[in-house]
Amino acid sequence: MVGFGVAGEDEGEARVVLRHHRRVPAAAAPLVQEVREGILILALMPRQSEDHGLIFFHAAEDTSFSTMATTPAFPGLTVVDHPLVQHKVALLRDVSTPKKLFKELVDELATLLAYEATKGLALAPVTVTTPLETMTGHRLAGREPALIPILRAGLGMVDGVLALIPDARVGHIGLYRDHDSLRPVEYYFKVPPDLAERDVFLLDPMLATGGSAVNAVHALKRAGAVRLTFLCLVAAPEGVRAFHAAHPDVPILAAALDRELNAHGYILPGLGDAGDRLFGTR
Ligand code: PRP
Ligand code: URA
Repeated sequence: MVGFGVAGEDEGEARVVLRHHRRVPAAAAPLVQEVREGILILALMPRQSEDHGLIFFHAAEDTSFSTMATTPAFPGLTVVDHPLVQHKVALLRDVSTPKKLFKELVDELATLLAYEATKGLALAPVTVTTPLETMTGHRLAGREPALIPILRAGLGMVDGVLALIPDARVGHIGLYRDHDSLRPVEYYFKVPPDLAERDVFLLDPMLATGGSAVNAVHALKRAGAVRLTFLCLVAAPEGVRAFHAAHPDVPILAAALDRELNAHGYILPGLGDAGDRLFGTR
């Protein structure tokens, strides 16, 4: 397989994510309009696929975009496409995964996302004396980062990030989605001081309509946060769009970008209710 993508309901433009081999198969070349950052933009996608060496999913099929890194359709979203991330997300989604393993997977995924999310942290030179000589190394500069889980499910990601940044400060934002309106209701807000001087990582496994994350970032900005990153495990396209319409300055890192929301605001294929699966409340 060279790549996969989503063919529209009608003939028209389609996007294909190139995998592994970054070369377009010769038989597919006439379909290709342009190649951009590992994405093929195809024109006039035929309904009856010939063997052009590409694999397509149709919009109604069970596709998840978890192998994508970035795409022009969602600037500001990075899907961490490491094989371990994909492996663990598949386990996490599985309805038969028990509560203990679910929590362990959330921790491990949070650690892997945090590794990516922290690659831009500022460093300061430091003199280190090894057993053999003295050299200049580097250490993290400035105030400790702040981790802000959205209660409840975001709590599940805190330990995984603390495994990499044990000195990080932890704040909490209490939000739940009203079952009927799907609008977030805020019930708690406590964050570390001096947010303006910290890298702030907002944590929530699920980005569905986007209401909770949008609301949380508004609250963090009001509290002074300027360098923000949102880490989630499973994102819906609707949520990514809403989030970046409200906060184009805040990057999102996700383990998977899923297909859509259902009528109740649940992500498809998703993983169900993250809070209930983490805490065994259903
Ligand atoms: C879930 C999830 C997010 C929110 C995402 O929390 O953890 O916070 O839904 O949905 P949205 O993008 O449409 O706002 P929920 O409201 O179920 O609260 P809980 O974690 O307390 O169960
Ligand atoms: N919250 C969840 O926990 N899961 C979803 O699919 C949507 C919102």
